Amino acid sequence: MNIDVLKKIAKQMVDHSKGILAIDESHGTCKKRFDALNIPVNEENRRFYRDMLVSAESLDQYISGAILFDETIRQKTSDGSLFPQFLESIGILPGIKVDCGAKPFSCHRDEKITEGLDNLSQRMEEYRKLGAKFAKWRAVITIGDKIPSNACMIANSHALARYASICQEFDIVPIVEPEVLMDGKHDIKRCFEVTNQMQNILFESLDMLDVTFSGIVLKPNMVTAGSSCNDQATPDEIAELTVECLKNNVPKEVPGIAFLSGGQSDQDASNNLNNINKINTNPWKITFSYGRALQLEAMKKWSGNNKNVEDAQKIISRRAYLNSLAASGKYEISMEKV
Ligand code: G3H
Repeated sequence: MNIDVLKKIAKQMVDHSKGILAIDESHGTCKKRFDALNIPVNEENRRFYRDMLVSAESLDQYISGAILFDETIRQKTSDGSLFPQFLESIGILPGIKVDCGAKPFSCHRDEKITEGLDNLSQRMEEYRKLGAKFAKWRAVITIGDKIPSNACMIANSHALARYASICQEFDIVPIVEPEVLMDGKHDIKRCFEVTNQMQNILFESLDMLDVTFSGIVLKPNMVTAGSSCNDQATPDEIAELTVECLKNNVPKEVPGIAFLSGGQSDQDASNNLNNINKINTNPWKITFSYGRALQLEAMKKWSGNNKNVEDAQKIISRRAYLNSLAASGKYEISMEKV
């Protein structure tokens, strides 16, 4: 493990108000999104679509890294280079999702445990050779009747810590993602309680496994009310409770926090990130690592019709630009109208 290398990559991932583009959807998730727009689901369309996104003009000014899926890291962009080499050539760090998905958690109905630790060292070695500079592992925590259990939070935190330790052994920066899902009727206070507890257990686990905090990036959910809650929180409440949660749990050595969008609208994801940055007085950089909130409008515009490529690319560039403004507290909702 070379701590200077890890620190340098982690800093680059969250610096200069740039954020991370998540294009690491599994085949199942990608199919769901393509099906909804009648886009034929096949390897070439997945390649073409992701190539279109990463080749959008000026993307490198707002995006520091792109998270790839196992299939994509082995594919080529239209200029003939492998995705990691293309990304490096435009100043974007290539990353790789390494977890194998959230599976039913034994003896715990309605809860999930993320799998993928088996052979992870061997896979990591291969991904490093393919050019990956950082990785991602996502744990999902569901809020519901009597859940999450402590067991679910402990097991997922332990897996995240084991993953993070393996990444660091290979000089690959781990994005550590404990996602408390937005699904449900719970209010913002309940989301705060669970997110706070999950982050607490997570940082204890990372510490117990000697993970170096200065060589990770945290990818948490924002603290919001559940998507079916009748009493939705205001942007100010979201920002306040999200920052409070981070302040309670995240060590100062962590260089940056890159939020997931989790199903928020594009505008909410930008606006909430902006408000969080406005009130944050902590040392970490706070930015975005969005999937849906960066891509979905561009995907709709493309819809499998290559005549729409240029317009779709303009959409993703603009979304990345707005989120980059939000990462420095300079975004305004009125900018959406232009
Ligand atoms: O792991 C989750 C993705 O990388 C982020 O996706 O922004 O659509 O929640 P999302």
